[in-house]
Amino acid sequence: MSGSMKDVARRAGVSVATVSHVINGTRVVNPDTKQRVLKAIEGLNYVPNAAAKSLKSKESKTIKIILPKEGYLYQKEMHFALIDGMMSFWNGKRYSISLHQINYENEEEYSEVFLHTVDGMIVFSPTHELYHAISQRNVKIPCVILNYRPEDEEDGNFVEINHFHTMYHEVVKLLKKECHYIGYLENTDASRMNEECKDAYKDAFLQNKVSIVSELMKSIPASSEGGYEVAKSWLENKQVDAIICNDEQISLGVIRYLLEKQLDIPTIFYTNGTWGKLYEHGETIKIPCDTIALQTSEMLYQLLSKKDEDITNYQFRTEIVKTESPMYSLDKANQYIEEHRVSNASKWRQSYHIVPLVGWLNDPNGLVQFKDEYHVFYQYHPFGAEWGPMHWGHAMSKDLVHWEHLPVALAPDQLYEKGCFSGSAIENGDELILYYTAHDDSNKMKEVQCMATSKDGIHFEKKENNPIIKNISGEAAEDFRDPKVWKHGDEWYMIIGTSKNQDGRAVLYNSPNGMKWDFKSVVTTSNGILGDFWECPDLFALDNIHVLMVSSMDLKGAKNVFLIGDFDYNTGVFKKNSVRPIDHGRDFYAGQTFMDKQGRRVLIGWMNRWGESIPTQKEGWAGSLTIPREVKADKEGFIRILPVQELALLREEKMEINLDSVCNTLLPVNIKGNALEIVCEFELGKQVPDIFGLHVRKSKKGDEYSEIRYHVQKQELIMDLHNSGKIDKKESIAKVSLIGGKILKLHMFIDKSSIELFANDGSVSITNRIYPKESSVHVDIFAENGEVLINHLTAWKMKNIW
Ligand code: FRU
Repeated sequence: MSGSMKDVARRAGVSVATVSHVINGTRVVNPDTKQRVLKAIEGLNYVPNAAAKSLKSKESKTIKIILPKEGYLYQKEMHFALIDGMMSFWNGKRYSISLHQINYENEEEYSEVFLHTVDGMIVFSPTHELYHAISQRNVKIPCVILNYRPEDEEDGNFVEINHFHTMYHEVVKLLKKECHYIGYLENTDASRMNEECKDAYKDAFLQNKVSIVSELMKSIPASSEGGYEVAKSWLENKQVDAIICNDEQISLGVIRYLLEKQLDIPTIFYTNGTWGKLYEHGETIKIPCDTIALQTSEMLYQLLSKKDEDITNYQFRTEIVKTESPMYSLDKANQYIEEHRVSNASKWRQSYHIVPLVGWLNDPNGLVQFKDEYHVFYQYHPFGAEWGPMHWGHAMSKDLVHWEHLPVALAPDQLYEKGCFSGSAIENGDELILYYTAHDDSNKMKEVQCMATSKDGIHFEKKENNPIIKNISGEAAEDFRDPKVWKHGDEWYMIIGTSKNQDGRAVLYNSPNGMKWDFKSVVTTSNGILGDFWECPDLFALDNIHVLMVSSMDLKGAKNVFLIGDFDYNTGVFKKNSVRPIDHGRDFYAGQTFMDKQGRRVLIGWMNRWGESIPTQKEGWAGSLTIPREVKADKEGFIRILPVQELALLREEKMEINLDSVCNTLLPVNIKGNALEIVCEFELGKQVPDIFGLHVRKSKKGDEYSEIRYHVQKQELIMDLHNSGKIDKKESIAKVSLIGGKILKLHMFIDKSSIELFANDGSVSITNRIYPKESSVHVDIFAENGEVLINHLTAWKMKNIW
């Protein structure tokens, strides 16, 4: 992987402008510095992009960016983010960017602005002097001035970063949460930005008719100690119930105090989005650098298309940048689905499994029986058959097998989320609560836990005080997601998947009411053997054993496993005794369970996994959930996973085969269909065969089929997909011993693009997606080098529930 120009600048400890000078020879650079830059370029394997290289050639189309040499850390970081955005815009238009850092206080350096032949210019935050120097020169270069407000508003040509707008909304949000004592801390130097933020703060109080306590607004020099001391005095005297800061150093001090005292009050940091450490600990209001960069560049681009003579009075343009409104909403998603539903007649469209109406589905979420209905939510991207900004799709059923689609339940429509990631549901009186991870990867990745509630189980309202859990445990990495919530006694518990030092772990929070949560414990870790990162954890009891269920793509073999052992509610620690795959197929991931009102532990998984090719994408959809399965411990404490009995409600035409045995042959049987349930029992004959089994979804010619075979010697049950249709997936193998040394019971659910196979009363299962021809609907039975008795063989055509 190669780094960017910005990475080079960071590594060499110089500005992006210096890197540009070294690459393009536009300035003499101190030899040591140059050496550092060249080393960084080499170390990062940075290939100066075409635009940067073409700066050397006279024909290049070039945009000059002028920015100040001096600046606060805050400002520099914002400039990096803005330049990044501009570079990608202009590179896309095949323009080069030439960066010039000048000392805005030194008028002699202004000549730099007019030195080169360039097509257009963007000037960052000029001083009044610089602005006047540019406007008076009348150089006829299309120019956009960024972040500047002229004293005399008469021409008012600038792109203004609207600190006021961004801050105002955050303060109003706090006031609405009943935080009326909001400490406001700024650094004494940050002048104009401070004024705007402060105005917004005051205005928010005024508009909401809350009086301001003026002692709670403080300007202090930028230092972490300063932040610490002020936070300490405010909080010791109980003067504030929230804190806002617009300086990184000060914010770090505030956070240090809060962490030391384990205090959890709303904290807001005004930032351009790169104050990494703060992300874990508080809310950040992000200056929308992407939007600003795009808007400034587009403006300039439009100016460039004007003829020279038209430009004189159009050198500058005016616009105020506002925070983006969210791109996604429930309405947008539901309308899209309505207009783009995939036909159920498509070749691989499932008949009785939950699949999305259109678009992409992954993990099952929020499995619950609420009032009398079963609800299944799922990770959903309606707008394309590939993974994208996550919504929660929703289906409901009265009997766990006849499902109906409901409107999308959650859309990433809040400023704190770019995706609503996996989570769970719980019935609380007459309310249904969803817990989910708000995922934001727009800058440094950030994951926090949120909740939404509903009275009717269909329309959900996200809570005002979201996020309810921020990642402050110190026991978790940035990946911190998939909350599974349950009640035990009077307490509520939430288990979350994460990692530390690239080792998977699950952490536990508890709460007296489901609203306010405290970190309790690290439940257990992968300890170097069970994956680098855990997703979708679930913890439950089966009689007197405890099961911790985790998914990790880094696991060898099955990616979703049960850790079986003991869990102690006092310490919050799980002690593992053994580990077993939940399913031996390739397509079982991110399983989740719930306890229904009959006391059954029901499990549903995502019947795919990351990184595989999914031919249904061509049909405009991807992803299926498994059938619901019941998880039980038998008398010996052995866990069995069985299809729920309600699946029998989907049986239609019955096909019973009267066949005593097969010996050394392959025999077509009179079962036909692409959506079938098959139940059969084999028994070893006198002459024990090497292998025996069935072919399902077999073509008439016999060239396509999925083979289910038992290898007697090896005691292996195999689902062999070498010939099963589009994309081979080789084979999935499970160790199974025959009952009484001679009997194999199979129970199979076949749908238009899947096979779920259960053996010997749920002691193992194998689940795989297959993509056969539509006409491959035949079944046959075989035994090689011996005889197998068929104690019974029955099949049913399954209903199409959609
Ligand atoms: C598991 C997972 C979850 C995450 C979701 C995102 O498949 O990666 O950890 O919440 O998918 O769609």
